[in-house]
Amino acid sequence: MSKEVNIDWNNLGFSYMKTDYRYVSRWSDGEWDEGKLVTDNKLSLSEASTALHYGQQCFEGLKAYRTKDGKIQLFRPDENAKRMQNSCKRILMPEMPEQKFIDACIEVVKANEKYVPPYGSGATLYLRPFVIGVGHNLGVKPAPEYIFCVFCVPVGPYFKGGMTPVNFTIADFDRAAPYGTGAAKVGGNYAGSLLPHEKANEKGFADCIYLDPKTHTKIEEVGAANFFGITKDDKFITPKSPSILPSITKYSLMHIAENYLDMEVVERDVHIEKLDEFKEAGACGTAAVITPIGGIEYKGDLHVFHSETEVGPITKKLYDTLYGIQFGDVEAPEGWIVEVE
Ligand SMILES: Cc1ncc(COP(=O)(O)O)c(C=O)c1O
Repeated sequence: MSKEVNIDWNNLGFSYMKTDYRYVSRWSDGEWDEGKLVTDNKLSLSEASTALHYGQQCFEGLKAYRTKDGKIQLFRPDENAKRMQNSCKRILMPEMPEQKFIDACIEVVKANEKYVPPYGSGATLYLRPFVIGVGHNLGVKPAPEYIFCVFCVPVGPYFKGGMTPVNFTIADFDRAAPYGTGAAKVGGNYAGSLLPHEKANEKGFADCIYLDPKTHTKIEEVGAANFFGITKDDKFITPKSPSILPSITKYSLMHIAENYLDMEVVERDVHIEKLDEFKEAGACGTAAVITPIGGIEYKGDLHVFHSETEVGPITKKLYDTLYGIQFGDVEAPEGWIVEVE
């Protein structure tokens, strides 16, 4: 099937491309409609939509993977469904039932099967589900209507030609307030991250690390990814905080560290002044699986972990295991894989 589209699978980046179908469902009068696949990639909405003025919207990101035998599979879509429900709850939007969310993702992948990159290219079909508040509304209050949509785009592997560590600096800004919307995947968190990201780039860093907004002493997030560190005695450590977005990749890596690599796993505070406790560190998320952290710049000094040029052995093992599970080469824990057909 993949031969039907003229795409250079080995040179895909992460940019928008119109695929054939997207799923759209509308909510009004207290319920979601049936929903359907449509070919039009434009939405028509009221100029007074809450999504436009008050940021009443949220989104998700997950991928479909082509396996060696040509099948297509989704990785833990139930977790994305649950996280989207939590995001919706936080900003008073109606929740999409878990099974309807998963079915919508499956329908979109099936309808766009020819865009699912071939096994071995490292490329995947990225799915972007989102909910937006629409309808005529002026005051700061929940929208009268909502749109749920899932579209998809083929994307390249994050690392072309092997994993390479990158350096990060500490942000001068907060990403979220202590009891704000940090744990929800809402657009406002990302609008606020554009300037810190640009400033980090200007200083020559891949991105910035956000410290906890209350005390600015503990690591929270690494750009739009979660942080983990490997201690000198081989423990997998990752920050615990109510203002971190719960990363599905992070929770999957915790399971792999514990059950596949026999490591101790601890979610707890990670103090920026105590980076010495780690021999390796990484950022994790759907986009890259793991981005090895070469070093972190803090107060003018660059703290280097394993190496600025080479990925550490435990980080590599974690990456290989999760990547293998996602592409069907390593046996997955029960329930992690949903076959598309
Ligand atoms: C702020 C933020 N943190 C962490 C993550 C990683 O989450 P996941 O592993 O579910 O992709 C993401 C990406 O979704 C993100 O936007």
